Amino acid sequence: MNILVTGSNGQLGNHVRLLSEGSQHCYFFTDIDDLDITRRDAVMNYVLTNGINVVVNCAGYTNVDRAEEEEAMADLVNNQAVRHLADAMKVSGGTLIHVSTDYVFGGALYNRPIAEEQQTNPTGAYGRTKLHGEEAIAEVGCRSIIIRTGWLYSRFGKNFVKTMLRVLPDGGLRKVVFDQVGTPTYAGDLAALIYDIVENEKYRDANGIYNFSNEGVCSWYDFACEIARQADLKGCQIEPCHSNEFPSPVVRPPYSVLDKSKVKKTFGVKIDHWTVALGRMLKTMNA
Ligand SMILES: NC(=O)c1ccc[n+]([C@@H]2O[C@H](COP(=O)([O-])OP(=O)(O)OC[C@H]3O[C@@H](n4cnc5c(N)ncnc54)[C@H](OP(=O)(O)O)[C@@H]3O)[C@@H](O)[C@H]2O)c1
Repeated sequence: MNILVTGSNGQLGNHVRLLSEGSQHCYFFTDIDDLDITRRDAVMNYVLTNGINVVVNCAGYTNVDRAEEEEAMADLVNNQAVRHLADAMKVSGGTLIHVSTDYVFGGALYNRPIAEEQQTNPTGAYGRTKLHGEEAIAEVGCRSIIIRTGWLYSRFGKNFVKTMLRVLPDGGLRKVVFDQVGTPTYAGDLAALIYDIVENEKYRDANGIYNFSNEGVCSWYDFACEIARQADLKGCQIEPCHSNEFPSPVVRPPYSVLDKSKVKKTFGVKIDHWTVALGRMLKTMNA
């Protein structure tokens, strides 16, 4: 079987690459320099020439703030390019595994974990373009598995954990918001789920949308405190604050805890609590 992984230089793509080293199947890792997924002909050509059976789309326009000024660019990558991948899988009869986001739910004040079928209502350009990408897949009607996630971190790329590890040790006061609540997702754990789906034929037919994050709930403030505790950062001062102390062009979801019942039931996945997953990630930083 031939598997195309797009956006493979990102956080998630790098973890899929590490896992695939143990596979009997043939993985093709690409990023924007080798395969710009916004180029429809290039996508179609790559898929047909290499006999691709599964596409794992780890590519995305992921800068949430900048997307407000560059919605057309975000739409190209998060929506139109996703349609190209879906079209290619429709033609080849393969499966598209695509990653989406909790931002499709936007600003509503939910107070219980969000299930897949809950009404979407993105409040910003990033969430809007990601939702349009999901809708494009549905319109094309290829075999597809869409995984919505949030608060992704890894030793690769840019993320909250790496920022905290960099800024907290200087001893200055750091204010971190406590009025946005969600669940951190270790990209290594999401990659393990995706790898399992790719490698198990019975899972590749599980068409639909699935939520995935680690277990548990926290605010960004709690997350920062736990990073400091586990990384044994001495003398850092972390203080809770409200979101309005950090003006942003985007309304971020105040509550984005995802209900993971469906993903656990369908794929039999065991999910670690976010504090345990964080510990595993921090070990990889010291390795
Ligand atoms: N990060 C999060 O907290 C988060 C939360 C929820 C969902 N997600 C979703 O999860 C997926 C993976 O996220 P991530 O954090 O691993 O993203 P990432 O680290 O930003 O990686 C995305 C990769 O896609 C590449 N890319 C951008 N435009 C492309 C194009 N036209 N063709 C091919 N590759 C392109 C990027 O290259 P450049 O770096 O050169 O642009 C980058 O290597 C994305 O779909 C994202 O929307 C992320």
